[in-house]
Amino acid sequence: MQASDQFLRDLWYLAGHAKTLKPGAITRRVLLGEPVLLARRKQDGQAFALRDVCPHRGVPLAARELNADGTVTCPYHGWRFGADGACAAIPSLVEGQDVDPKNIRVRTYSLREQDGLIWIYMPAKGREAVAPKIEPPKVPLPGDAVPKFIERQMFKCDLDRTTVGLMDPAHGPYVHKAWFWRSPKSTIAKAKAYEPTTRGFTMMPHKPSANSTAYKVLGTDLTTEIKFELPSIRTEHIRAGKHSIVGLTTCTPISETETEVTHTMYWTLPWLGLAKPALRAFASIFMRQDREIVELQQEWTRYDPRQMLIPDADVPAIWYHKLKKAWAAALDSGAEFANPVEPQTLRWRS
Ligand code: FES
Ligand SMILES: [Fe+2]
Repeated sequence: MQASDQFLRDLWYLAGHAKTLKPGAITRRVLLGEPVLLARRKQDGQAFALRDVCPHRGVPLAARELNADGTVTCPYHGWRFGADGACAAIPSLVEGQDVDPKNIRVRTYSLREQDGLIWIYMPAKGREAVAPKIEPPKVPLPGDAVPKFIERQMFKCDLDRTTVGLMDPAHGPYVHKAWFWRSPKSTIAKAKAYEPTTRGFTMMPHKPSANSTAYKVLGTDLTTEIKFELPSIRTEHIRAGKHSIVGLTTCTPISETETEVTHTMYWTLPWLGLAKPALRAFASIFMRQDREIVELQQEWTRYDPRQMLIPDADVPAIWYHKLKKAWAAALDSGAEFANPVEPQTLRWRS
């Protein structure tokens, strides 16, 4: 049996924002094509995730409210399950019937709350009971960072096209010209140094390009670093003097043709709070522009177009595909993952 499938496994995926999962709440999601119940206990605030399928006869467990003791009750025959996945009660049993609820379990998912985000570990097939060997990505800010705002949109597009669209360096002047005040005429040639990271690559810290007007309001003492990590996590870290602005963009596959994109912003610059409404609006427009172009691309897959990847503007896309392949191969063979990316300076015009 292959440990890998159409989505990369043994990795953390963003499942939601901590604030939206209130104590006593239960929500139902589909992540990587799997039904997942997310809930937060009232008594201790602990969030947990279960496979949203009753082991008895397959009804969704999240169809009911969370019980006061933090367990969930199946709406069909009332079997109860705790955060650890163990069955706590089978109401139909009478004395002498030889079924021990404790031996019945619903699958649990490892969950972490960090920087105001809820991450879920999606294990490879056959390794559901193995504890994660890695931790979810940490926002490059000290302590537990608090999101300033969140923009989330559902892309009617597969994970690969969505992810590649977010790391693509050459689309800016065409796709984002409306708000970037940058027309195809004002493009300049760029050269950016890239280095491999543990599970991806990073565009090394550099001064924003001369035609990136959007950065200018932050002052002149600026550097930007853009990091990409498997499965589909992009972190842009702008350093403005001693302050930081961090944009975390994650793609969570829902199904083969639907991907949830979430952009979470963090910053330490106090005055930037004043610009929040404008930044929010920009983030929403920016994401819509990215969404519309890849949805168009997805729609056009019906004509079976070829993929032509050219140097150097498409090299990040090539790296993404190589990283995915290497991760899947390591999962299937059990070998250590080896990052196929080599340090390189990429040049393009945008
Ligand atoms: S199907 Fe869940 S208790 Fe019967
Ligand atoms: Fe974009």
